[in-house]
Amino acid sequence: MEHPQIFVERTLAVIKPDAVDKSDEIEEIILRSGFTILQKRRVHLTPEQTSDFYAEHYGKMFFPSLVAYMSSGPIMALVLARENAIAYWRELVGPTNTLKARETHPDSIRALYGTDDQRNAVHGSDTFSSAEREIRFLFPDSIVEPIPAGQAAKD
Ligand code: TYD
Ligand code: MG
Repeated sequence: MEHPQIFVERTLAVIKPDAVDKSDEIEEIILRSGFTILQKRRVHLTPEQTSDFYAEHYGKMFFPSLVAYMSSGPIMALVLARENAIAYWRELVGPTNTLKARETHPDSIRALYGTDDQRNAVHGSDTFSSAEREIRFLFPDSIVEPIPAGQAAKD
């Protein structure tokens, strides 16, 4: 008999230092929006770890201040699961610049909880491969590989 496998998309959400005090409220929005929170971890990253996390932006004008800000205090990392989780979380997060978010997406999390163009309350993975990489980065011990059918019975 075929072993059915169901894949539910996962994404990484990060509540950034400027909004970490509002984590409870933001988690409520997340749950009300149909996500399941699979894992959750409050961490204070070093500047070196933050540079690795944001490696794609290395060399950009805003990189040094982004690293300083993201390592200035604790963050809350969350693994979210839902159908179409990556795109849906990005939509809920809103535009990168908080001030623009307030104009064009007033109900978005960045419009509601962000501070300015850099301190924008939350992070969301933008593609499947960045979601996988970022989840592994912040949850290195998590079990992410499905056990192939047949193997489970032997264990
Ligand atoms: P980016 O990946 O472009 O945005 P997003 O978080 O929406 O995926 O940039 C990463 C973070 O870098 C962004 O959340 C805030 C900061 N940033 C700045 O401080 N200045 C900028 O001009 C940009 C584009 C981003
Ligand atoms: Mg990005």
